[in-house]
Amino acid sequence: MEFEISSDVPQQLDSECLVVAIGEGSLTAPARALDEASQGAISQVIEAGDIKGKKGQTMLLRGLPGVKARRVLLLGLGTDEQRNDSNFQKGIKAALTVLKSINCTEATFCLDDAAVNDRDCYWRTRQLVEQAVAELYRFEQMKSKPGDPLSLARVRINLDEADVETGEVAISEGAALANGVSTARDLGNLPANVCTPRYLADQARELAEQHPSLSCQVLEEDEMRKLGMGSLLSVTAGTEEPAQLIVLEYRGASEGDKPHVLVGKGITFDSGGISLKPGEAMDEMKYDMCGAASVLGTMTAVAEMGLPLNVVAVIAAAENLPSGHATKPGDIVTSMSGQTIEILNTDAEGRLVLCDALTYVARFNPASVVDVATLTGACILALGHKASGLLSNDDGLAGELLDAAAYTTDKAWRLPLWDDYQEQLDSNFADMQNIGGRPAGTITAACFLSRFTKEYRWAHLDIAGTAWQSGKQKGATGRCVPLLTQYLIDRTA
Ligand code: BES
Ligand code: MN
Ligand code: ZN
Repeated sequence: MEFEISSDVPQQLDSECLVVAIGEGSLTAPARALDEASQGAISQVIEAGDIKGKKGQTMLLRGLPGVKARRVLLLGLGTDEQRNDSNFQKGIKAALTVLKSINCTEATFCLDDAAVNDRDCYWRTRQLVEQAVAELYRFEQMKSKPGDPLSLARVRINLDEADVETGEVAISEGAALANGVSTARDLGNLPANVCTPRYLADQARELAEQHPSLSCQVLEEDEMRKLGMGSLLSVTAGTEEPAQLIVLEYRGASEGDKPHVLVGKGITFDSGGISLKPGEAMDEMKYDMCGAASVLGTMTAVAEMGLPLNVVAVIAAAENLPSGHATKPGDIVTSMSGQTIEILNTDAEGRLVLCDALTYVARFNPASVVDVATLTGACILALGHKASGLLSNDDGLAGELLDAAAYTTDKAWRLPLWDDYQEQLDSNFADMQNIGGRPAGTITAACFLSRFTKEYRWAHLDIAGTAWQSGKQKGATGRCVPLLTQYLIDRTA
């Protein structure tokens, strides 16, 4: 998909389809211009009651007199109070649904500041790019024949002359971000027999080959053993697939600049291990590497944008399977930090790989560390599929992440990390156990991680509810790539 900015009066635009918005009982400026040029063609359909301008409504008009473009697609915005972020996104999706169904190769969006409240031209333009790419996304790598190709290949965004420069930046950053989201979705959607820990490592290496600002190093199991990563290695004990600790470094600033570190849970399949999961929907545990996918997606976006800061991504990639070699409930392992862990449930494996990765990253002297993981089913009970869970040992960092979440609409909600919960991890035999019982499962999982992150500012994002959709719409969402990328963009200001 190609995006470009244009700046012309709407009636002069040479386009296969112009998208213009109308409110309930009002026209936006671009719609008014077309209405005047066509001697009231738009007000006539409104007066006739063919379209009211309710939010999400669409109507396609053809061959308006005095208008150069072949078609005009009217998009309803609803009332003033309805012009929020979410309805803006839904409106764009509604327009794209029509554009996909008609046979046009190009379309031009003429939306002005009436389309959404309290958002500027940069935000609107970037959102348009992100939503368009997401709406046209398809995952066909595993089909023997690709589906019908999409005809829509070019989207133009028409802006006021004064906004053209801002629009160009918004397009290029929006495209980088959208590419990061698609990367994360592709990795998530791939089945576990393709997307193994070694596959993730290969993807990281390939990314580093495409960008001189990136370098990649992969630690093998023998190196992890030397580092004392007994916790991470206990998860991979039951499988033939070798675990990989992937380190991807982005250099956009001077060497002395402390890096922001992202850590991703990369369990390429989570069967539960000896604490085997029930069979229902177990296929969805191929998505248990979506934390890793969103970290790689974010690195894709950051490298493409060339952000002036340093970022280190660390991915703990492993497969969690049962076998005669697998870790058993009751086993006690020693983590890289030296702390011992009684593994009471081998299905609480995410925290076991993350804790060693989190100990490892202290060596980078990080400005901040954010880990991303499909960590707990309890997070779905708490927040559903709308918001990711956020827990942090630093109020400033939590605030920065919540700001990025609000700006991108990649929602997150903070849960407490009070010491009161720590006692749920007390073990009779080791320094801690790996489960905290049913109450507050998302919080006790984060409490476990917090025992390995005392040396730096740290936040944890639980994306168990947001990383993928189930049912007919089954597929990875790329969630957290917008949040993480925006968080990093904001650190450059
Ligand atoms: N990957 C799962 C969490 C998960 C489950 C994410 C379902 C999304 C949907 C994680 O490894 C896990 O199994 N967690 C257990 C922890 C429990 C044993 C303390 C869980 O949430 O049930
Ligand atoms: Mn598990
Ligand atoms: Zn898991």
